[in-house]
Amino acid sequence: MIHSAVHRCCRMAWRAGAVLALVALAFLPPSSGKGQEKKGEEQKKKDVDPFAASTTKLPPSYKGPTFHLSHKYPEKKPKPPTDPPWVKALGGKPISQDNAIAYANALKDHIGKDMRTLILDYAKWNAGAAGWYNMPWLFSIQDPIHGTYVGSGFPRSMFPLSGLKKDMTTLVVIYYNDVAGYTLGQIWGKDAMKPDVKKAQYEEGAIIVKVALTTAMKEDWSPMEGAALWDVYAPPPGSPAGTPPAFFKASFFQFDIIVKDSKTAPQTSWVFTTLVHDKNAKGDAWDKMVPLGAMWGNDPDINSAIDPNAILQQNVINPMAPLYATETLGYGGRLSGPNDGAVVQSAVIDGRLVPRVAVSSCMSCHGVAEAPMRSFLLPGPGVPRASGNVSPSTQGDFIYLYKPGALAFNRWFQSRPGDEPQDRGTVALDYHMNLAFKALPLWAKYTNQDRSKLYADVPSGLRRLLLEPERSSKNGHLFPQKRPKE
Ligand code: HEC
Repeated sequence: MIHSAVHRCCRMAWRAGAVLALVALAFLPPSSGKGQEKKGEEQKKKDVDPFAASTTKLPPSYKGPTFHLSHKYPEKKPKPPTDPPWVKALGGKPISQDNAIAYANALKDHIGKDMRTLILDYAKWNAGAAGWYNMPWLFSIQDPIHGTYVGSGFPRSMFPLSGLKKDMTTLVVIYYNDVAGYTLGQIWGKDAMKPDVKKAQYEEGAIIVKVALTTAMKEDWSPMEGAALWDVYAPPPGSPAGTPPAFFKASFFQFDIIVKDSKTAPQTSWVFTTLVHDKNAKGDAWDKMVPLGAMWGNDPDINSAIDPNAILQQNVINPMAPLYATETLGYGGRLSGPNDGAVVQSAVIDGRLVPRVAVSSCMSCHGVAEAPMRSFLLPGPGVPRASGNVSPSTQGDFIYLYKPGALAFNRWFQSRPGDEPQDRGTVALDYHMNLAFKALPLWAKYTNQDRSKLYADVPSGLRRLLLEPERSSKNGHLFPQKRPKE
């Protein structure tokens, strides 16, 4: 009863919020009819194109391939795959230490042909024709060549064992298979103006992949030897706000594959896997992507702070994975990749500065995907402006976290179904962070929603990220962290 009343109330709030007051904003994609006093609904819609690929214009001298946002989402509910190869790879047994890496490899093989084209032969890539789709509303952050946007920044000290020589920034682009693309169409409808977050539950067989690149080249970080390089056209990472775009290269180093598979993952319905670049593996840059691990729940029954050596039951790490990729595993050894930020340096826990602590995991962080978001990505209040016990001069640089293993912390380590939100009174988004953390905040910004109302109940550390979706990074900070010289 309470549950459904809560849902109804939120749905109404979201619908009401979606009554649009569209205004043509300075840097929106090409708009026609500026300056007209009264615009019809149709005219208003033309002022903003949610499906635009990028607001960054390539110089006319650039002749290479460009990013086209694939958004002709399937309209018919796709059939769930019968006996998919990844399930077959389990050999009829429940997923476990014995077969989880085979499961990840079967997923890799299943999408390998398409992904090899995307990653190694981009001029031939046609996402729509291959049945892969993208999210609307990301035009202000996507680069015009590959559609990548900034994921996170990491200081060189994050990877002490593998010798990262300079600070790095990571870039990501996300693709949805046909089954997942169908749900994107359900959420956004034809014009993407009124998202219906109640439709954000994926069908069986939905696959979402994320390509992650780093600005570290092999000269900066030896594990990057042999990695595929992508061209990016964007303000050079780490440069002060307002720096114009430039061409630079980035190394392809992590590839996430998540799949909706309730049979294999009865508690959460998702299996999260990730591949990482291994310079010692044979073959081309796609062959060299090896599984780092898989997880299908957060092991809520294992309190890793109290019992650090307990063997996780919903999580497997590949013992053959390259060292650099294991330096940033999550809480209690739960899965998280070198692009993911599960390790925090300079955390404040119980009023004390903690130099380095592993506090997240793939599914812990993705578990806060809800609308509107009410919990910070990492287990804690985040980066509040003015509270806590450290001196005022340092406030803002530290991430405030709960004590690992404490009740408040453990809220981030449950194994919930994707339609059950972490926070009561919000709508669960089925572990879908690109929607929760990027697309909905950008939609709210560019359709002039009343964001102070929308984010009224959001803790301050998270609110500033949602209010500035172009600068929000999943490690909890706003970038660029270098401010222009006054
Ligand atoms: C600290 C938070 C965090 C961790 C840890 C994390 N992610 Fe994500 N993930 C995000 C955010 C935020 C996005 C949205 C895109 C972006 O900003 O990078 C995302 C996007 C994705 C996507 C695209 C679909 C979606 O949900 O938006 C996939 C797939 C994905 N992550 C897989 C993984 C896997 C696999 C792991 C672990 C190996 C992982 N993530 C760990 C925060 C996290």
